[in-house]
Amino acid sequence: MLQKPRGTRDFLPAEMAQRRSIERRMRDVAASFGYGEVVTPMFEEQELFTVKSGEGIIGEMYAFEDKGGRKIALRPEITAAVVRAYVNEAQVAPKPLRWFYFAECFRYERPQKGRYRQFWQFGCELIGADSAAADAEVIALASDLLSCSGVRFVLKIGHLSPMKHMLAGLDAVEQKKVMAALDKRDMELLENTLASIGHADLYDPLVRLITAETLDEVFAVTGDIPEKARIEETFSYLKAQNIPFVQNFGIARGLDYYTGMVFEAFADNLGAENQILGGGVYRLAHLFGGKDVPSCGFAIGFDRVMVSLGEIVPTAAPVVAVIATAETRGPAYAAAAAFRSAGITAVMDLMDRSFGAQLSSALKSGASYAVLIGANEAAAGTVTLKNLAAASQKEMPLADAVAEVINGTC
Ligand code: HAM
Repeated sequence: MLQKPRGTRDFLPAEMAQRRSIERRMRDVAASFGYGEVVTPMFEEQELFTVKSGEGIIGEMYAFEDKGGRKIALRPEITAAVVRAYVNEAQVAPKPLRWFYFAECFRYERPQKGRYRQFWQFGCELIGADSAAADAEVIALASDLLSCSGVRFVLKIGHLSPMKHMLAGLDAVEQKKVMAALDKRDMELLENTLASIGHADLYDPLVRLITAETLDEVFAVTGDIPEKARIEETFSYLKAQNIPFVQNFGIARGLDYYTGMVFEAFADNLGAENQILGGGVYRLAHLFGGKDVPSCGFAIGFDRVMVSLGEIVPTAAPVVAVIATAETRGPAYAAAAAFRSAGITAVMDLMDRSFGAQLSSALKSGASYAVLIGANEAAAGTVTLKNLAAASQKEMPLADAVAEVINGTC
């Protein structure tokens, strides 16, 4: 039997109904903040991703040459693509731009629960605003998007400056090594890395920084850094909106483009792959041939949110089973069409089953109503509307049956 590629999944209708119900909620929240949807290509020139992260990232992507010899990659994330689209299409648009996306990404990962080779991100990018209020808006939106799904999470917020300030004496390669150890939250690796580059003295202050629980504790380690006021302002705006969060100045973020505030969210009931959101302030446009522009955004790992939520029961819209005989197919088609054009799902038997078999199939399928059209109804120009849960039924004109289903009065 042929199988799907490693790290991918099939979604059947019941699971898709659950996924779409959460997706719809997230779309509504993003729209309520004034964010409009953007769609970019599923594949891009490899250079879009290597220009900041280096050629090393090719090993982590689905990268290939197309028939024209172009180096292509399936997008491993969407921020770079969105910024490229901004540079190509929207640099002159009035700022700030508030954009969101819901789309699949591809990473050549070692698959495990919550880590796939094809996965979906719900992300938002705020382009062209550089202020504490901008940072706070993006974090508030991230928090509301996760909350609307019902997932239980902890939001952790930090800023790269305090850490970079402490690592200022290290060269870029050394800084990257230390940041990688911090990103993995691996204290032993951190200690060994610092020792290997002759900076064992940084271990204690770094530990004090990343375990600091208040901003005062952070700035007691770093002193008065230039970003202090901005960080304090952002935190105060979040507190003013009652956004629950904890500070964590050990967040380093795996991607290379962040420049300021960074944040991540974790679900408490997932195993190793418990990070359900990541984001921060970044600059990319100038690398893609555009004018430098401040940006801030995040992406939610939609699949991980769904794993964390487990089984959910989406609110079901009514479904009408239209039940007829071979002779009453004409009025049955008209009835199905009337329900559908009123926005109600209507299904009909396709297997020439008896009236009774159609009714029991309707019950098994979970339909809310049956609309029976036998010889009597066809002759009278009526239908019999049966509420399958209440087992009550009434004969009436088609238009009344449609109205009763819409109003839930049957
Ligand atoms: P990221 O942290 O690489 O950030 O990915 C965002 C989220 O995608 C992760 O927190 C995780 O939940 C989910 N995710 C990542 N890899 C996988 C995978 N293999 N399977 C399932 N879920 C996964 C970004 O991608 C940035 N573009 C976020 C951003 C937007 N920064 C600024 N704007």
